[in-house]
This record gives sequence, structure tokens and C-alpha cells, in this order.
Amino acid sequence: MITYHKDARMFVLENGSMGYAIYVNDAGYLETVYFGRHMEDYTDVSCMRDAGGYATARYLVKSGADVGYADGFKADCAPLECSPHALSDKRGAPLIVRDGSGSYVTDFRYDSYTIEEGAPDLEELPHAHGENAETLDILLKDRTRELWAHLVLTIFADKDVLVKSFSVENGTDEAVRLTRAMSMQLDLPRADYDLVHFRGRWGKERDYTENIVVDGVQEVSSNLGRSSAEENPFVYLKERHATMEHGEVIGFNLIYSGNFKFRTFVGPFRGLHITYGINDEDFEWLLEPGDDFQTPQAVIAYSAEGVDKMSQTFHRFIRENLMTYAKNEDYKPVLFNSWEGCYFNFDTDLILSYLEDACEIGAELFVLDDGWFGARDNDAAGLGDWQVNGKKIDLKRVIDACHAKGVRFGIWFEPEMVNPDSDLFRAHPEYVLGWGEDELSLMRHQLHLDFANPAVVEAIYAQMSDFLQEYSVDYIKWDYNRTVAEHVSRAYPPERQGEIYHRLVLGYYSLLGRLTREYPDIMFEGCSSGGGRFDMGTLYYCPQIWCSDESDPAQRMDIQFNTSLGYPLSAIGSHVNDSKVAPYAAKAALALFGTYGYEMNPNVLTETEISDLAAHAELYRKYHRDIIEGGTLYHLRAPHEGNYMCMQCVSQDKSASLVLFMNKLKELEQFRFLKLRGLDAGKRYHNTLDGCVHTGEYYMRVGLNLSGGWLTEFSHKLILLTEE
Ligand code: GLA
Repeated sequence: MITYHKDARMFVLENGSMGYAIYVNDAGYLETVYFGRHMEDYTDVSCMRDAGGYATARYLVKSGADVGYADGFKADCAPLECSPHALSDKRGAPLIVRDGSGSYVTDFRYDSYTIEEGAPDLEELPHAHGENAETLDILLKDRTRELWAHLVLTIFADKDVLVKSFSVENGTDEAVRLTRAMSMQLDLPRADYDLVHFRGRWGKERDYTENIVVDGVQEVSSNLGRSSAEENPFVYLKERHATMEHGEVIGFNLIYSGNFKFRTFVGPFRGLHITYGINDEDFEWLLEPGDDFQTPQAVIAYSAEGVDKMSQTFHRFIRENLMTYAKNEDYKPVLFNSWEGCYFNFDTDLILSYLEDACEIGAELFVLDDGWFGARDNDAAGLGDWQVNGKKIDLKRVIDACHAKGVRFGIWFEPEMVNPDSDLFRAHPEYVLGWGEDELSLMRHQLHLDFANPAVVEAIYAQMSDFLQEYSVDYIKWDYNRTVAEHVSRAYPPERQGEIYHRLVLGYYSLLGRLTREYPDIMFEGCSSGGGRFDMGTLYYCPQIWCSDESDPAQRMDIQFNTSLGYPLSAIGSHVNDSKVAPYAAKAALALFGTYGYEMNPNVLTETEISDLAAHAELYRKYHRDIIEGGTLYHLRAPHEGNYMCMQCVSQDKSASLVLFMNKLKELEQFRFLKLRGLDAGKRYHNTLDGCVHTGEYYMRVGLNLSGGWLTEFSHKLILLTEE
């Protein structure tokens, strides 16, 4: 898959479907000469170096000569893997190192390379894995100093994915400062793309946003300390007019849960310069002699066949090469969560009555949400005190009752937070972020613990592991309900405060990593005020993430559809709640396109509602693994494109398919033929819409006929196709 053509000085990474070529020029810069569909012959690609710009000259101080680069390198516009900084290339370097002299000049050039099977293991960071991969590690050396950088690229044999990262080593005998440490650079010789990204807020995560790639600089970023509801790290470029099925699409994501920055720059020569990685706002990492710094991995998915191919590639990559949950292949139970039913107001009897009724609607995992610990009767107290409030709940009784019914038991934690009104804060006010100012920013009455400080992480670990030793828990919902402010830590000296944002993320990974290793049977689900930390870093540990606190189809269909463009349905925690806009059946059908669950007071359901919901739970049990989780997802119609949304999943063996159609506003009768995708043209399928049997070809050419009839607001059709 990876070859170095010595004479041509060219690295070619290819897997028979996608190709990537890097030319080592005379000066030792790595020029990206090709990225696109697989080619049989890469020998000519270095011709691409002739696009735009002027060959660049330098002044050699020692000889006093004005010289050009031997092979006509155009330093300010050539597509590169690692632009230098503070030289004539002003597009934006991925790495900047400032040394003791104060100089910003950073000029990494080729030294040597290795090629290895598999994907590298990053000690402190979540990372890609898999045997179906090969890794190229190109060692770069700074032109004047003993500073080293590794550019590491992994390519996969069975999916069009490239994983890129840098690491920097200080081989000098003085401390240096890394003031920017991005994970990757990608330069493309054209800029006529649209940039799709997913911004939002609480309850409205991942709003589809499409802008043209503008001249000059454009950024998609978070400086909130988490990957955020405001912008998600998943973005993609699509060739103008590309569709779900056609055109070039390049997707990007970062295996990281903190501040990020995806930056594009289009300069006068019309090339597109991309850097992606940790946001450099307030970032500065001190590298002592011998130290190194590893950036998170950036993941690039390539598609020459539209958005869906890119999206399917990410789904497979996340499931096969990212997630580490030991039981990921097992069936994921129907979840019932207590939060929206009773919030903080419960006692043992109420919870047991919930359990009883939750079983009626098919619950297989009962989750007791916030409010079971410390003085947590509202959101102003108790966070940080992870001891059961025995006056409020007899937890052992609840757990035993669950297990006696064959239902798993799950519980809520928010490990990185503390309320000022808590025993933990009273005993350790120094455990929170901030220098000890007399004014700290509260969000939801809580402060952010200093997870950059290993002692604080250890203290929370001790509490959680004491709890887990005593109570037999099958699942943990790991919440995170505020952003980072006052990103300073008392555990570090002033010159290391630029490290805190990143160290907080490392603290999160160290605790989550340790607990998932020590308790491999417990399933951890991520959450952050709904879907505020929905990212690849979290998915490495947690096979599911709460997608949003918004469960009403009016908003939810957008949130779920858009999230599924970059993340597999199996990772999208989706629940039926009690909101009044849409009927339960519509909410349940939508929740089936995710990991199915409930958030409600189950004591007040009518007989019809119970049987409706139980029937959907049954569908989940029957079809989730083969069709939704293990199948292929097609985005037939995006909700932002018109009055309806449609998604379809097809099982791997193409013997069955589930289609969800959901309209928005009331609509009068009209032609509505839904052309399906991914079926076997020759197979015959029965459909539950009209009970007819047609060939796969018919469904894909003519379509399911939803014409005629009026559609009321948010009405839906859930259609199952099964091979005859
Ligand atoms: C967040 C979550 C909710 C719930 C509450 C509890 O908002 O998104 O599901 O767990 O916290 O405080």
C-alpha cells in the first residue's frame, strides 16, 4: 500500500481505490503532488508542481549569492505537507516552535522514513487501530536546530481513509515553546469546493451549514474546551454541485474532544491550504530537552462518489478502527432513562414503579440519571460528592430489582465537575480551574474541576472506583454540562498555562481510559448537555453518545440526520420522550435510526401508547443489529432540502432494508416516489407500505410510491423491505 519510489523521490500511498503522493523536493520539503482516485501510474504526477506561482529564490548569507531552488520549488504556493513558518510561505504552518532566542522560524525538512504494518499506538490519546493498515512515518528535521518532527500517515486497505498526525521532539539542550501544533496540513491545487460544517447550540446540535470556500481565511473551530454543540469537528469539502451520490467529497474529523480549529486559506494562486488540529488560541506547550509532543490524529475520508460514500467510510472506520468497547459487537439494549420523567424528584418506590412500567415498553437497561448522590436535590448542589444519598434512594434494592428482571442497571456521573455547594469543594477549593480569583464563571451552578491536575483526577477516580466496587453497575452515562472558562491551573507554573486546555482533555481521557480498562463489562455512554461532546475522541471509549436533549421530531430529524452524515447510527443515542408536538409512534420511528431508548414518566402511558412503544422496541430488537448497526446507511433526502426527510438502511447481505420517511408541514396529495438505494437489483422484496413485492431494481428505479393522500404535520412512514 505504501511505496517509496527512490528515483522519483516519491511516496505513494494507495489502496486500489484512493491514492496520495508526496514528492521530496531538492530542498527537502514534502510536496503533496496528488490526492484523489486511485491511479495505475503515478510517475507523471510531479508535473502538477507546475501549477501557478513563481519559483522561489533565497539569499545565502555565507556565499552572498541569490539562488533558486534546484527543482523550481515555489515556496509560497506549492502544495505541501508541512509549510515552514516565518519564511516566504505565509499560508499558515501547522507547527510553530519558538526557541530561547525568541525566533519563530520553523523549517522542517525531510530526513528519513519508515514504513510499518498497522497503525501507531498513541499512549495518552485515543487513536485509530487495525491490522488492515500501513503507516508511513516521515522524519523531518528543523533546518538549523536539533528539533525533529514526525509526519505520520496511516492508510487503510479496505476503506478510503488517511489518518495524519505530527509529533515534535526537542533534541536541543534548551527548552523551546511549541506555539502551534496542528495535526495535519492538506494542500489541494483547486479551491472550488463548498465547506459543510455543523454548528448549533444546546438542543439544536449539528445544524447543517454549507458555505463556499472563500478567498482568504475561513475557520470552523471551538475554543470552549470541548468539541462542542456550537461547532462539531466533523466537516467536509464537496466539489461544487456534488450530491449524495456523485462528485468528489473529502471529509475531515479529529480524534479529539477539546478545542479544535479547521482552517482553510485560499491565496492568490487559487490553491486550497488546510490545516486542522488543536486550536492554537492560548495554546503553548513547553518542550524541555528530550521532551516530545504528540498531536491528536486527524482522519480524512475520501469519496469520488458523493457524500454518502464518505459518510459510509466514516461509519465503518469508527466502528472498525476507532471504537474499543470490548463488547461492541454485542446487541445494545433498549435504554430507559429516568431524567425527563422525574428530574431530581424521586424516591425508591417511584424508581421501582418506573422500572416496572419501563419493562412494559421493552426496556432492557434502566438508567438512574442525575440526583442519586450527595445533596443533589437540584442542580445547585452535590456535584463532586459521588456517594449514594441513602435517604433518597435504596440503590442496592433498585439494582437488585433490575437484575432480578434481567434488566441491566446504569447510572449517571459528571466526573469533571463540582458544585461550590459540595463537600468536595469545601474540602478542596483548589481543585477547580482558576488561579483562585475572587470571581469565577459558574455555568449551571457548577465549576470545572482542574482535570489538568493528576491529583484531582485521582481523587475523582477514587470516589468512582469505590462506588463501582460496591454497586454492580452495567452502564455509566458520563455527562459534561459546561464549557471551560478560566483555563488556568494552580498545579502548573505560569510558563505552562498554555497547556491547560489540552491537559484537561488528557485528564478526561486518562480517567475514562482507566475506568474502561478496569471495568470492560461496563458500557460507558458519552453525554454533554445532550450532544455537546459528540466526537471521535469520546467514541474511542464510548460506543454511544447522547445525541441531543431535543427529542421532538420537529428539530430532532435534523439533528439525527446531520449527525449521521459523519457518525454511525449505532453511536447515536436516540430516545423517545414525552414532548407533545409529535405522536409517540413518530418519535419511536425516528429513535429506531439510532440506539433506541426512552426518557419519560412511564407510569402515565395509556394502553395504546404502551403497545405502540413496545412494538417499536420489538422492531429494534429484531432489526437493529443487522440493518441499522451492521448495515449501510443512505441519506435519501436531507431535511433542509425540502418538506421531508428520508433515510434508508440496508443489511450487509442486502436481504432487508428499513426506510424512514418523515414530513414536516402538512402537505396535500402529490407525486411522491421514493427511489431507494443499495438493494440487490435482482432480488425480490416485500414492502410493508403497500404489501407489494417488487424487484430491487424496481425500488431503485421507480421507487416506493408514497403519492396521493394528505400528509399531516410530522407524519411518518417506517417501511420494512424483506427479501421474498
Ligand atoms: C444533561 C443531560 C441530561 C441529563 C441532565 C442531568 O443536561 O443532557 O440528559 O442527564 O444533564 O442533570
